[in-house]
Amino acid sequence: IGLYFAGLGGQLPPYPLTFAGLEAAAQEKMEHRLWDYVAGGAGDGHTQQSNIDAFHRWGVLPRMLSGAAERDLSVELFGHRYPAPVFMAPIGVLGVMTDDEHGDLAAAAASASSGIPMVASTLMQDPMEDVGAALGDTPGFFQLYTPHDREVAESFVHRAEAAGFQGIVVTLDTWTLGFRPRDLQHATFPQLRGYCLANYFSDPVFRSRLQATPEEDPGAAAIAWALMFGNPTLTWNDLAWLRGLTDLPLLLKGICHPDDVRRAKDAGVDGIYCSNHGGRQAASAPALDLLPAVVDAADDMPVLFDSGVRSGADVVKALALGATAVGIGRPYGYGAVLGGQAGIEFVLSCLLAEADLTMGLNGYASITELTREVLVRVT
Ligand code: FNR
Repeated sequence: IGLYFAGLGGQLPPYPLTFAGLEAAAQEKMEHRLWDYVAGGAGDGHTQQSNIDAFHRWGVLPRMLSGAAERDLSVELFGHRYPAPVFMAPIGVLGVMTDDEHGDLAAAAASASSGIPMVASTLMQDPMEDVGAALGDTPGFFQLYTPHDREVAESFVHRAEAAGFQGIVVTLDTWTLGFRPRDLQHATFPQLRGYCLANYFSDPVFRSRLQATPEEDPGAAAIAWALMFGNPTLTWNDLAWLRGLTDLPLLLKGICHPDDVRRAKDAGVDGIYCSNHGGRQAASAPALDLLPAVVDAADDMPVLFDSGVRSGADVVKALALGATAVGIGRPYGYGAVLGGQAGIEFVLSCLLAEADLTMGLNGYASITELTREVLVRVT
């Protein structure tokens, strides 16, 4: 409503209102390799497009006169009530996406001001202690890419606890990088490697593995990072070790199969994060279409979801398919590119305004009313 009234006064919104507009404006501003890295994905890009198409195959059943003038979008997650069932998904190069190259701090500040939680990536540009402090009163999550060196992994988790993060999200789908032609073409990833390694370079255990400090020889430190970044040998047998690292809620990101959900539950995991990494990792992996089966297998465990969420209506659909909370990836990343903290806040507030209106105009006052019955196949 604020935007409509501002428009009446001739005041235009500061940033584009649609995903297409954000994407186009961000592309114009970004260095082309970084743009390809962020916007691109696995193979020919059909996986990330399928994520978007999957949302468009659903419609929301409209109900009239149901008294939905006041809506409640708040959600309880791991003992905390958040104002909306939406969160910022981890974005590794977020740090270098803002003008000042402190994108993680910008997102943390946006989280503090909006109450929308952030899942902070292992690959932050600023150490997790600084990002954790910037989250203010909004409990955030630390995303772990499990390094090959177990003691470094343990150090990360314990630092995240000390930094005030309230949950650990272990990403399982990136034990090696996906086939991303747009990056391979420009050798982007090796060139980004000097960035976003603050958590490694500041880690006492990682530093103890080096011949020279990262300050003395950043190239050698980056190679040491590259050698321990992924862990192809990680299996379900390692879950007990991961579980034993922390008493914080432990979530597994990239779980999309009901059998894997059951194994996670048996291993004492607290939450499932269903995602195909925004179509960046395994080519042809679905995401939204797998959500209902994941939710059924999870029983009472919370299920987070991301991949392809581009609008408030998409948020409503993911909730109706059973997600407890819905992750936003590239859209808030583009907000960071365009306006840092303010850009992120703008993108999140538009998305939430649209989710709120989609619920209200369709006659649903509370997210508890968003069940599978409110969705209808439209294509
Ligand atoms: C990601 N994603 C990601 N995931 C993760 O667990 N750790 C990470 O460091 C990153 N890094 C990252 C960088 C970039 C540039 C993107 C676009 C994505 C995946 C992310 O958390 C999320 O799963 C997807 O972005 C969701 O899809 P959409 O919303 O971007 O379509």
